[in-house]
Amino acid sequence: MKREIITLCILVMLLVSVPFCFAAPTKAATTKLVAITFDDGPGAYTAELLDGLKARGAHATFFCVGTQAKARLSIVKREVSEGHQIGNHTTNHPQLTKLSAAGIRDELNNCRKYLVQAGGEQTYYVRPPYGSYNSTVKSVANAPLILWSVDTLDWKYRNADTVYNNIMRETKDGSIVLLHDLYKTSVQGALRAITDLKKQGYEFVTVKELLRRRGIQAQNGYNYSSAYNYGITLPAEEAPGPPATPTITAVDVWGGKSVSVACATKGAAIYYTTDGSVPTASSNKYGGAITVTATTRIRTKSKAELWGGEKEATIWVLPAPMPGASYQDGKLTLTGETMYYTTDGTTPTAKSKAYTAPIATTGTVRVLVRKKGASDRLMTYTPTKYGKLLTDVRDTDWYYDAVGESIHRGLLAGMGETEFGPETTVTRGMFVTALSRLAGADTTQTQTDFTDVKKSKWYAGAVAWAAQNGITKGMSETKFEPERGITREQMCVMLCRYADFAGVTMPDAGTAEFADEAEISKWARTDVMRLYHAGLISGMGKHKFAPRDNATRAQCAKLFVSFDNFIAE
Ligand code: NI
Repeated sequence: MKREIITLCILVMLLVSVPFCFAAPTKAATTKLVAITFDDGPGAYTAELLDGLKARGAHATFFCVGTQAKARLSIVKREVSEGHQIGNHTTNHPQLTKLSAAGIRDELNNCRKYLVQAGGEQTYYVRPPYGSYNSTVKSVANAPLILWSVDTLDWKYRNADTVYNNIMRETKDGSIVLLHDLYKTSVQGALRAITDLKKQGYEFVTVKELLRRRGIQAQNGYNYSSAYNYGITLPAEEAPGPPATPTITAVDVWGGKSVSVACATKGAAIYYTTDGSVPTASSNKYGGAITVTATTRIRTKSKAELWGGEKEATIWVLPAPMPGASYQDGKLTLTGETMYYTTDGTTPTAKSKAYTAPIATTGTVRVLVRKKGASDRLMTYTPTKYGKLLTDVRDTDWYYDAVGESIHRGLLAGMGETEFGPETTVTRGMFVTALSRLAGADTTQTQTDFTDVKKSKWYAGAVAWAAQNGITKGMSETKFEPERGITREQMCVMLCRYADFAGVTMPDAGTAEFADEAEISKWARTDVMRLYHAGLISGMGKHKFAPRDNATRAQCAKLFVSFDNFIAE
């Protein structure tokens, strides 16, 4: 007996002393906490309520009804993403004590389905409709049951002032307040009360957070209606938010960078792409150091989709700089980074011959340019027969000689310092300009009848010259369409008209054996045949002429050089 009394005394002392242990040293002990809860929604005013909560830095708990959650799932998702707690208030709001265990299970599971869509797989606290529960409800719920200590009766009065007054009068440190976000008056009254209670030092937290900070471990099948302050107030958990920005450690290596990625947020997943697209959960998943040879986008995503959000970082991998290049006395001189090259047309690798001195060559040299931390760059250098260095033509291309001749004779100039643009479509403006150069024409007069040829344009003089001399008639009376690609048959017609103008005698039309002869426009047929019989044009393979295809600069160069030779003969 005596022994039992002593034990009891020790127990009482312990119970009394414990709260002081927690309360004394922490500043957090002075914090007043309240969990404000909204049932039966989401409704028409929930978005407005969320705006108000956000503006006040307040968190709440929403016990959703399944049918409402289904209809306004985006609002439920927003509740989750803004740090509020969502809970289960059944699917159809029945009095659960009147249902069988199976009926209760259906009501809770169907609502849960929508909560999972918004907040992921987790335990959702249950608020039984009308606060009505029994032992069957408790065991089937398999979650903490949440009741309330402040009943605002907002559904009954539908008056913002009454809602406000009821909250202000009854709320204490640790209250769970019952409201409904179906009514505008509830939203207005609640927001006003939040503003004023915050001034009194209240912090608005979710039910889960209220229980946690009061040192209560919420257990499934137990009910909670408040968490008053008995001296325990744990500090706030770090505010949930997006994961930390990935931290990148990159080491320059040949061809790119060796990259290690870390994220300070525990459990965050890291994804990346190297094609410029936004990394998603189906992109490459980072699992350890990677070597990247192109610009890479890296995103972190928090593992629990609950708080959403993601952060991104980019690793820039740029190509190795272009080397300086010049060609003189049969030698190609390169300056710049580490380089390897081939002269047999094969793709150079780091095992190819290293560039150390000017390369004696009359043909194409292919070069691999490498720099640590940069992606590899492949270059092609081809000197023409006249020593002009080109980077987009190879000595094995069918137009290699024609391009070299056309640049050398000034028939068709390059497009840049070392570019010819062989596959580029020739516009009608470009073609007449080239033709005027071939003719050595005076192009100072720029007046034409074409409404789409402005006098200030670089091709205006050539178009005026061609129109005045009957070389072009335009696409119509008023349009020349200078920016449009010239077709192969249009090119033939203009060239023949130029031949007539220049007094060059061309052979008669005759026939050709093009498989697609029928596709040649009637107005172009004679001129195509005349050029064919002069040996100036050939087919495109398989005996086709492809009259309506756009002419490329390479084709144009070939035709101009052949024509120039024909005139010379
Ligand atoms: Ni309800």
